[in-house]
Amino acid sequence: PTPLYLDCDTGIDDALALAYLLASPSAELVGIGSVSGNVSAAVGAVNTLDLLALAGRPDIPVAVGAHDPLVRAFDGGAPHVHGANGIGGVVLPTSGTAQMDETAAEMLVRLANEYPGELKVVAIGPLTNIAHALRLEPRLPELVAGITLMGGAAMVPGNITPVAEANIANDPEAAREVLAAPWNVTMVPLDVTMANVLEEEHRLELLASENPVARALGEMLGYYYRFYEGIFGRACSAMHDPLAAAVALDAVALRTAPVVHAEVDAGNGPGRGQTVCDLRGMHVGYPEQPGAHCRVVLELEQDFAPHLMDVLLGRVPAA
Ligand code: BDR
Ligand code: CA
Repeated sequence: PTPLYLDCDTGIDDALALAYLLASPSAELVGIGSVSGNVSAAVGAVNTLDLLALAGRPDIPVAVGAHDPLVRAFDGGAPHVHGANGIGGVVLPTSGTAQMDETAAEMLVRLANEYPGELKVVAIGPLTNIAHALRLEPRLPELVAGITLMGGAAMVPGNITPVAEANIANDPEAAREVLAAPWNVTMVPLDVTMANVLEEEHRLELLASENPVARALGEMLGYYYRFYEGIFGRACSAMHDPLAAAVALDAVALRTAPVVHAEVDAGNGPGRGQTVCDLRGMHVGYPEQPGAHCRVVLELEQDFAPHLMDVLLGRVPAA
């Protein structure tokens, strides 16, 4: 299996992504780093450890990452979206403790050196740890197989400002460095994550499962759905982070995913946090852009929900 490093701000949809990845025989989670986003990096690490224990995988190491973004201070997270504890108020049995001897960025650099050319990076929170890792090890882009990140809004509105998506908006300076580094980036933005929705029937199916992780996810989604009801007008939710995980595993077919120049606005004007993707070739099918290294996933071939449910309920492996 492909070694995989997950960077997350666990978070309800992060929890879905983690459960999804644990179900994949083609990838092996060799390390997880937490970062402040939905909750603080410290709380995100606890949620991750508790989920790992519930899933019977307390062996996977978790390192606590950056509390603050590169330039500004952590803003306190998104309790209105994910609950005060990050997982919709669901109380999981407490479990082990995080690695104390390395930060998330150090863990990523170590793993990149341990698995040269093989390690896949999946980033589903703000990109602070990844930017720190790039500063620690500028050869990181050559050492890893690639990075898939949930973040950005290419052609649709943002979810934090009119133009900025949360993971990017929470640390635009870090995101700017990550997109500028010379590696293959796959961006999974709101364009595709808001178009793939988990419905109430799916939540009920999770709640009825015999699998304790699936049931916990069903409980968390109750909270998440209430936030998304204000957006979609019914009890349901977008599937940001698990979709990025599935894209990283090549488990979903992509209909539109051009490789383009993309950069992040890290200025202090109204565009702060915007992912500026050069999609000008869309009418002629996105001709090649020399030097471009960001694949922007805009559309899937099929709805993601059935696949996600099959994996979470153990009907099929993730990939
Ligand atoms: C992203 O922001 C976080 O709230 C979610 O976990 C996801 O990673 C969506 O904008
Ligand atoms: Ca997240």
